[in-house]
Amino acid sequence: MSDFADSEFQGKVVVITGAGNGLGRSHAHEFAKRGAKVVVNDLGGSVDGAGAGDAADAVVGEIEAMGGVAIANKASVSDRQGAKSIIDDAVSAFGRVDILVNNAGILRDKSFKKMSLDEWDIVINVHLNGSAYVTHAAWPIMNEQKYGRIVLTSSGSGIYGNFGQANYGAAKMGMLGLMNVLALEGGRNNVRVNTLAPGAATRMTASIPGHDFDVDNPPEESAPKLVSPAVLFMCSEEAPNGAIINAMGGRYYRSQVFVNDAVKVGTDATFEDLQTEAEKLMDMSAAHPPKRT
Ligand code: NAI
Repeated sequence: MSDFADSEFQGKVVVITGAGNGLGRSHAHEFAKRGAKVVVNDLGGSVDGAGAGDAADAVVGEIEAMGGVAIANKASVSDRQGAKSIIDDAVSAFGRVDILVNNAGILRDKSFKKMSLDEWDIVINVHLNGSAYVTHAAWPIMNEQKYGRIVLTSSGSGIYGNFGQANYGAAKMGMLGLMNVLALEGGRNNVRVNTLAPGAATRMTASIPGHDFDVDNPPEESAPKLVSPAVLFMCSEEAPNGAIINAMGGRYYRSQVFVNDAVKVGTDATFEDLQTEAEKLMDMSAAHPPKRT
């Protein structure tokens, strides 16, 4: 702990959802090591979101054992009152909320043809609505205190697509839409919102066929702790605003939406004109970030 006596996170109040396992647990450890007071939220269910348990207590115990400060909250982020209770608990215990890492997540993978609408709803509710609910509770506090850092957890499955994850991919791409707007609305109050696209060996990835490893001893090159530096970066004083950072195996890079130059067909444009210009329309070789007007 003493290694981080001068850390900028000393005394900061950090809420992390789904911090009972995997990536959230790692983020919680890294913030706590640097003197932050951590709210460890976790419903404690299985990878598919069924059941409940005490994973949050276990992580609080780990943090306390290393001399850190943490409390547990076991509400579901997808329950509106539960989501609010996470922020209420932070304020009751520590007086404020500085940082929120929306990390809780589940999987209900199926090809879209076989996916029920219940499987669609539960995944959207945990990832996208859950992130919005917890953020909504923290939002007025952060904007009034003119300080806040929020991370949304997306995925390559959302940003680039992945077979069998229509529900998850839609929810994870939704994070980018939420971020884009909140970065604009919060930026003027020093509330910065960024998005993580992680990759690590956790119980979630272990549940995907073809991934074979010991969750308690993940391979060094895909350890969850290699994702957390990106989260702390996005929660730091010098954090960007509205950025997507990919983090996996000690490699960190940015994603951004690019556009190409418009094909200017004019106000009498027809489908046939566009067919003629199809090659140019589809050519992204000179693409660039969108120019905001
Ligand atoms: P994990 O399964 O180890 O951890 C997720 C945690 O969220 C669990 O402890 C679970 O109990 C909790 N949780 C689930 N539903 C909840 C709810 N309604 N309320 C509160 N807590 C809830 O999985 P992992 O891998 O650590 O995932 C963390 C986040 O990172 C997820 O959002 C996931 O989609 C995302 N992600 C992970 C990747 C990876 O390679 N591990 C890749 C891309 C995204």
